[in-house]
Parts: sequence; structure tokens; C-alpha cells
Amino acid sequence: MPDDLARHFLLNPGVTFLNHGSYGACPRPVMEAYRDWQERLEAQPVAFMDPAHLTERFSEVRIALGAEIGADPDDLVWVTNATAGLNIVARSLDLGPGDEVLTTDHEYSALTKTWAFVAGRAGAVIRPVRIPLPLTEEAFADALRKAITDRTKVLFLSHITSPTALVFPIAGIVAEARARGIVTIIDGAHAPGHIPLDVTALGADYYVGNCHKWLMAPKGTAFLHSRPAMQALLDPRVISHGWTEAGESPGPFGGSAFLDRFQFQGTRDPSAWLAVPAAIRFRNDHDWGAVSARCGALAQEIAAEFAGITGLPALAAPEVSAPQMIAMPIPDCDTEKLHRDLLSRYGIEIPVLRWAGRCFVRLSIQGYNRPEDGRTLLAAVRDLLDLR
Ligand SMILES: Cc1ncc(COP(=O)(O)O)c(C=O)c1O
Repeated sequence: MPDDLARHFLLNPGVTFLNHGSYGACPRPVMEAYRDWQERLEAQPVAFMDPAHLTERFSEVRIALGAEIGADPDDLVWVTNATAGLNIVARSLDLGPGDEVLTTDHEYSALTKTWAFVAGRAGAVIRPVRIPLPLTEEAFADALRKAITDRTKVLFLSHITSPTALVFPIAGIVAEARARGIVTIIDGAHAPGHIPLDVTALGADYYVGNCHKWLMAPKGTAFLHSRPAMQALLDPRVISHGWTEAGESPGPFGGSAFLDRFQFQGTRDPSAWLAVPAAIRFRNDHDWGAVSARCGALAQEIAAEFAGITGLPALAAPEVSAPQMIAMPIPDCDTEKLHRDLLSRYGIEIPVLRWAGRCFVRLSIQGYNRPEDGRTLLAAVRDLLDLR
């Protein structure tokens, strides 16, 4: 890993940062672009916020991001985080008593709560399917297929899972579910900038992804992608100047009803969103495809050494593991204490998780990490868990 990439980040050099997955980290040039947008806004708030001006700026972001993720720019809107985007989708659905939401046992906890809330109000039922491990495409699709009933109204899946860092092979089951009239919703919080993504080809009804994690945009940048036919169903939650009763296109600001409803929602600081193209530029300027490949190789090396000291096999084959994020099994332990000790005694920031009765350390490797970060982690875990 070339050493000089770390200098582009604001991360505290006193911390061995192995948790890009939780909130990402934003490079300095992207932060500069972000602050520049904030200053332009403060210099001339009225002119800046004029929809005639902002529409154009928003369109530039949607075009740049759309090219990155295989989306028609007109099917993309800004939301502040994946949780917010998925709440909009879940809470727009017209679920009734006995309707079923099919999902898995690997979903992100805040979204599991969202579905419990939505289903609880509607009298609907959540069906979390246990996905057999080790993960294979066939077993994955089969487990979900078998759980579909004539009451299944929604299929909700992570693209990359949070506790287990697996890449779910979602394309086949999404196509099958759609053919059966089931609404397909994908939580792509970890996918943009991490794995190749073509949301149009995937064809899910709704795909929500974060730009502030692996794309390295400022915090507060996520997108909601909707198939055109499903856009009218969405309740933006905030009804503002861009809304009309009939939902006709063009809307009040000249965009589609979908764009106008979401893009103009009272006074919001769009600076982070406007800096998304700067994040894409930073990645291109630094050949991030090659950087990611090196990070993936380093993550696998560290995981192999880690398995060597714990004696516990990897949770997944490299082909189905998130390239730059690996959940590495550890013996049963007090996970909160281990997390605390790693940070306070060894200066290592890394999540320690308990999931389905098993414990993991979830390693993230990004361009700023160095091979010695892995060695620091291995030595600390060996000490703290008394592994020889
Ligand atoms: C799978 C998954 N979904 C959703 C989220 C939530 O993302 P955000 O905090 O941006 O809403 C996360 C966060 O790590 C996640 O791992």
C-alpha cells in the first residue's frame, strides 16, 4: 500500500483505524469542496437556494453519481443516509394485516426496527429467513424462494451485510420476486464505491445506497433510486414547495414529480451532496480501482493470519465476502470489553460484534491503511484474548 494515501485523510494518526465501514472517511480535497459549497451558500443564501440555480447543481450530482452506479440520473434523489432513505420506502408501502415482509437474519439492526415499526402499525408480519452458511448463490436464493407465500408483499435484502460483511447474490431472487409482483427493496449502504454496481441492470424497485461510506463523500450523502413506475408511490415524508396534489410532471420547479418532491424540502444544507462529484473525482485521480484491489488483497491476507491465530475458519469464501470488509470470527468473549480494550490499550478502532451467537471482529481496509495496521491488530487480539 503506498504510504502517501494516508496523508489525504483527516484521520487521527494516533489511531489504527480499521473501521471504514461504519461511517467512512472523507479525503481532504473532498472536505475542501464540501466547505467551499457551504461558503458559497453563506455568501449568497437567496441566490444559492433559488431552485433555478439548485436544480442545475443537483442535476450535475445526479449525472456524476448515476454514471458511477448505473442509474438514470432522473431516477435518483438525495437522502441524508441509508436509514432515512429506507424509512421513506418502508413507510410509503400500503401494507395490510397478514401481509408478509420477507428478509434475512443478516440485516442492519436499525432497519430491522424500521420494519418492526411499519409492520406493527399495519398488522403485517416480518419473515426473517436464516441464510445457510457458508453462503452460496443457490442456497441463498433457495432459502428465500421457499419462504415466499401468496402473502409476501415485500422482499428486503442487504446488498452487503452489516454484521457479517457478505455480498449477497441478490440479482436472481430480485428478478424472481419482481416477476411475482413482490416489491423489491435493497439496502445498499455498503455497496457504492465498494463493489461494481449497476442499479438499473439489477432492477430492484427501490435501491438505497450511501455515498459517505465507500465512495468517501462527506457524511449526510445517500441516494434513493426508484424504478420510474414505482416513484409515484413514495411519500417523501416532508411535504414542501416541490409537492403537488396531482403529482404531475413537470413539477413546480420543472423537474419530474419525483425530483421536485424530493429535491426541495424546506431549508436544507445541500453542500455535502454537492461534494459527491468531488469524491468521485478524488477516486479517479488516485486510480481507486487499483487501490481497492490492493486493499482487498491486504484484507484477505490479514484475515488468513487472523484465522491462523484464532483457529477459527473464515465465515465466507473471498468471492462472497465484501472485498474491503471481512467479519473475522473470534472465540466467545465480552465484545464490548474487547472493543474498549482495543481502543484504549492499543489505539485500534474496529467493531467487535456478536451475531447469531457468534463473535466477530469486522475488519475494514481502505486506501489509508498499511500492512502494519494488520500486524498491530493481530498482536493486540492475541494479547487480549490470550491466544498463542
Ligand atoms: C447494511 C446497512 N444498512 C444501513 C446502514 C445505515 O447507514 P446510515 O447510518 O448511513 O443510515 C448501515 C450502516 O452501517 C449498514 O451497515
